[in-house]
Amino acid sequence: MKTHSIILAAGQGTRMRSKIPKVLHHVMGKPMIRYAVDVAREATQNTPIVVCGHGAEDLMRELAEETLFVMQEEQMGTGHAVLQAESMLINQADLVLVTYADMPLLTENTLQNLVTTQQGNSGPITLLSVDAQNPRGFGRIQRDDKGDVKRIIEEAHASPDELMINELNVGAYCFDAKWLWDSLKRIPVSPKGEYYLTDTIQYAREDDLSVLAVKLEDEAEAIGVNTRIHLAEATAAMQERINNDWMLAGVTIIDPQRTYIEADVLIGQDSVLWPNTYLFGSTQIGEDCTIGPDAYIRDTRIGNRCAIVSSVLEDAHLEDRVDVGPYSHLRKNAHLEEGVHVGNFGEVKNSTLGPGTKMGHFSYIGDATIGSNVNIGAGTITCNFDGEKKHPTEIESDVFIGSDTMLVAPLKIGKGARTGAGSVVTKDVPANTLVVGMPARGVRKVNKK
Ligand code: UD1
Ligand code: CA
Repeated sequence: MKTHSIILAAGQGTRMRSKIPKVLHHVMGKPMIRYAVDVAREATQNTPIVVCGHGAEDLMRELAEETLFVMQEEQMGTGHAVLQAESMLINQADLVLVTYADMPLLTENTLQNLVTTQQGNSGPITLLSVDAQNPRGFGRIQRDDKGDVKRIIEEAHASPDELMINELNVGAYCFDAKWLWDSLKRIPVSPKGEYYLTDTIQYAREDDLSVLAVKLEDEAEAIGVNTRIHLAEATAAMQERINNDWMLAGVTIIDPQRTYIEADVLIGQDSVLWPNTYLFGSTQIGEDCTIGPDAYIRDTRIGNRCAIVSSVLEDAHLEDRVDVGPYSHLRKNAHLEEGVHVGNFGEVKNSTLGPGTKMGHFSYIGDATIGSNVNIGAGTITCNFDGEKKHPTEIESDVFIGSDTMLVAPLKIGKGARTGAGSVVTKDVPANTLVVGMPARGVRKVNKK
């Protein structure tokens, strides 16, 4: 059976009180709507159709070719929203999966379950329900004497008795397509001026057709985001889910509640994450690493057997056996090759440090290319900015930079050269030469390696 999906995302999300469309707010590093799109695509093996209205341009920019779009010019309710996709799907789909874009925790498994259940249903609808103590404004599911789903009552229109029902409408449905298009046109406008998708359930029952319900086991999947309080709940639930997945995959997390791993991060086996570790964006961490405590790492690639403590890494690349921290900052395009050591209060930007190079104490390295086994003494600074332009520094292998050396770029330090403590180096230094002073001048040849 051909199954297509429709994701409703046209609402304004007024209760978020935001300039940004609700479904573009992030949950663990990903806009909410991306979760909805990803699971709908997986469950149907087809490109989802997103119904948009408020903030449509922003949504289209975010999702681009990943989905198809249909406009709902005026937000006249969820039933009206689904109807907008009719012309795109008529004669294309046998089954239609409908979800709301503000439910980032729904899993592919659950949607798959809805589709499979509907495939075996003689009637036109399978919906998702959950038993929950906190009703969160969800529609209540009313069942008949036989225990079959009878109708959905929106909270705004429920009687005090109906409000006591604790089986809720999660907001995910699989419909028989042909039946759906006909039934949507039967929905009357509600007292609130909307056409409710949920009204279709009672039409099916009036026509003696069966409505099935799949019950969620994990209540967290049903978290829908209408306010920023819900956004925090969704974030906490997603944080827990991601952490659990990594622990089951062989990563040790010492204190999961204080560890934040965004959705697209990858971590290798037997790495250990200490508290207050934040792994953001496209970060990838190899095997056997120790990360944290207190690590903020964004869009950074880290090899195997690395150790990072109390440091900030952004857009950096660390090869195997690199250690960083405490209190260092690796910025855009910092590339630390195998075995590099960056100790405390170091900053590296747009620079490569070759294999085995050591930079132990409060140094700034910017726009530099540094060879292997270089010793960068305490307090070394690449003076890469002359007030107008940035200039490069090149330090060849086996160089020894004495403490508190100022390297005034552009500058090249030849292989095996040395600088004395406190030198201000303004001219290129030939290989195997010791320079000292301010500004530094040549003194003598030093031992060749
Ligand atoms: C809806 C359900 C309710 C369910 C709850 C679960 C209806 C009538 N009610 O209520 O039974 O328990 O979700 O989360 O369906 N949207 C449009 N166009 C519109 C109106 C809404 O695209 O004209 C989109 C919204 O952007 C949102 C989704 O549909 O993504 C749901 O709308 P929302 O207003 O959040 O519905 P709820 O009041 O939460
Ligand atoms: Ca909602």
